Amino acid sequence: MVEVGPRDGLQNEAAVVPLAAKLRLIRGLDDAGCPRIEVGSFVSPRWVPQMADTEAVVRSLPPTRARLGVLVPNTAGLDTALASGTAEIAVFAACSETFSKRNVNASIDVSIQRLEKVIGAVKAAGRFVRAYLSCVVACPYEGPIAPTVAARLGARLMAAGADELSLGDTIGRATPRDTRALLAEVGHAVPIGKLAWHGHDTYGQALVNALTALDGGVTVVDASVAGLGGCPYAPGAAGNLASEDLVFMLDGMGVRTGIDLEALARAGSDLCAALGRPSESRVARALGATDKR
Ligand code: HMG
Ligand code: MG
Repeated sequence: MVEVGPRDGLQNEAAVVPLAAKLRLIRGLDDAGCPRIEVGSFVSPRWVPQMADTEAVVRSLPPTRARLGVLVPNTAGLDTALASGTAEIAVFAACSETFSKRNVNASIDVSIQRLEKVIGAVKAAGRFVRAYLSCVVACPYEGPIAPTVAARLGARLMAAGADELSLGDTIGRATPRDTRALLAEVGHAVPIGKLAWHGHDTYGQALVNALTALDGGVTVVDASVAGLGGCPYAPGAAGNLASEDLVFMLDGMGVRTGIDLEALARAGSDLCAALGRPSESRVARALGATDKR
């Protein structure tokens, strides 16, 4: 599991979350045994003010067991990311022209040309690079997207040197049939062992899509504690698949993640208390109710 709560979760909060709350969250996720945590992004603070303190986040963290990652959109972000020293650096592109323009102010082609340079530089620095593709199934502005688009763009990002391709159902429109069709198409272009699934839960399909991806041979699933998240440039998108829900399902199926569900749920409930709102995770809510009984 790649825990994306501190980045995807908090980038979409209406208010900027204080540094201390971010650090507490990341420490809680690390204590729970999350193996990989995306802790923030080095994007323009004008575009996403919620992530403006990512440098301070990374610098203030004590050593973690988890492998930490940050998201960058361009070479400006890359320099800061390399200096911050995280083991992983993620880049992102989209399968829809309109979303690409809204999210990074560039066409798909121009944005991937930029990312090819960023990926090369990350590899030259000896770090792990993850590439996200957004709107793999549908775009909030353009509607359905053919699976061939993700296959073509994914192959380009991998050819540039990306170590992993995370397929983003940014607005949570996919059903298992879409996910299967997407994986079949992308699987022709990118080895299945290099894929990750990143689903948002807008239509309540995130868990079933994660299971569909796992059944299809994907072994890396992105999730966000308390089900927080969304992209400020994808209107109407709900949070990510809740990490607690994923871990509960995998525990029940006998799939070992190394994550302590109760500790994970505590990290989520601490964050929700700091944000003053209820968890989006069904499992976290059920565990809370059990505690009260
Ligand atoms: P732009 O306005 O075209 O960029 O934005 P620019 O190069 O003209 O620069 C504008 C200003 O931003 C300049 O400052 C730059 O220095 C500064 P000024 O001179 O005006 O004071 N700037 C930066 N500052 C800090 N870090 C940087 C950086 N780059 C430029 N890296 C840009 C283009 C890409 C910068 C902008 O569109 C941007 O930051 N976009 C990020 C949007 C974003 O973060 N979206 C959410 C993440 S993606 C996501 O959530 C999807 C995902 O979860 C998967 C899924 O669900 O599908 C990953
Ligand atoms: Mg996302």
